[in-house]
Amino acid sequence: MNVLSAADVVGADRRHVWHPFTQMQEYASLPPLVIASGKGGWLTDTEGRTYLDGNASIWTNVHGHNDPDLNAALVEQLGRVAHATMLGLTHAPGAELAAELSRLAPRGLGHVFFTDNGSGAVEVALKQSFQFWQLTGRPEKRGVIGMAGAYHGDTFGTMAAGDSGFFHDRFRPWCFPADHFPAPDVHDATASLTALAELLRVKAVQTACLILEPSVQGAAGMRLQPRGFVRAVADLCREHDVHLILDEVFVAFGRLGPMFVCTEEKVSPDFLCLAKGLTGGYLPLAATLVRDEIYDAFLGTYESRRAFFHGHTFTGNPLAASVALANIRKLRPLIDSGVLDKRIREFSRLLDEAFAGHAHIGALRRRGLAAALDLTPAGGGTYPVALRAGLQVCLRARAHGVLLRPLGDSLLLVPPLCLDEGELGALVARTRRAIDDVLP
Ligand SMILES: Cc1ncc(COP(=O)(O)O)c(C=O)c1O
Repeated sequence: MNVLSAADVVGADRRHVWHPFTQMQEYASLPPLVIASGKGGWLTDTEGRTYLDGNASIWTNVHGHNDPDLNAALVEQLGRVAHATMLGLTHAPGAELAAELSRLAPRGLGHVFFTDNGSGAVEVALKQSFQFWQLTGRPEKRGVIGMAGAYHGDTFGTMAAGDSGFFHDRFRPWCFPADHFPAPDVHDATASLTALAELLRVKAVQTACLILEPSVQGAAGMRLQPRGFVRAVADLCREHDVHLILDEVFVAFGRLGPMFVCTEEKVSPDFLCLAKGLTGGYLPLAATLVRDEIYDAFLGTYESRRAFFHGHTFTGNPLAASVALANIRKLRPLIDSGVLDKRIREFSRLLDEAFAGHAHIGALRRRGLAAALDLTPAGGGTYPVALRAGLQVCLRARAHGVLLRPLGDSLLLVPPLCLDEGELGALVARTRRAIDDVLP
């Protein structure tokens, strides 16, 4: 039961909460928004105003808020046990979820290491790759290759592997060195793949792994890769004996259509990192799926020191695992029936209709239920940073009943998968109205 009034919440928030990725001086100057409840693709504030959740609560929400099936799974597990450690023991939801993820993933990814956020899932893959080469007598293979513009999280390993410009630049001195190859053009991957082939020719003997966000780099502003690119990168990795880590933290669980994007190009990575949509946007849970041969290399006696010494307190939390199972059970028919594909086609049509040729949209990138709109002045160029055009549009969108989060002057539209065609239409129309109000 909440005991604070809305005003008390705002007061406590202003005094005590440090928000993520936020200039707190700016935040303090903006009108507060306190979310009280949610239902389906909608959130309601303490004043009773409703908003379409246009970024799926940071790209996590699948079946909507307050979903009866996910709620039931959570409550049922709550009646058994809320948490039990996976250090040295196990429980039904964790074991069942690991089996289900392995079954759905490409063949050979038979083992699952649980963490509780996307950065953690990637850190685990990086560390397991690093340790694998030591255990198999090739300790010189310790380098990491990432792609330009990549975002894999905010911990030191993920910042090192990523390339997020000013988000992370100041922390570079504390990061291990990594190589980056150019991202492809959406229509032509030749230059990117040629550069990668050359990098691997020179450095593969010292490289443990390559990490890639397959198909779409979300946090870079929905940077799209051409079809066949992931397959080509996977082939190069295989040829040069370098592990392939696919970071599907953003793209998996139907966000782009399939359960896992790697299956579209029939790629079976060495590590597959999952988070965000795994619990349908309910609870923090992440998973790193690992190829069986890699898992096997860590086996030995205790004193052989081959074990993977890494773990988090809430690893494989049973509440989160139960909800993840319910989420997957409900998502599969949505994908298999073609309903999700139909929604994706409709979303794409609506975006084209509203924004193609719009005077203030310099570029529109979209794939699946994810899109970026680059806001640009009518004559071209960019807005002065201090104008905060993206933020101003998002604040205006709130007035029209849509919650969005800007990335600089790009608007990212990432709706919950449950929005029906009418709701998708409302999301696009209200976003357009906000743009037209702010940038006439
Ligand atoms: C592709 C990708 N990897 C990793 C992460 C980090 O996930 P988390 O914020 O759960 O640590 C994100 C977050 O946006 C992401 O988009």
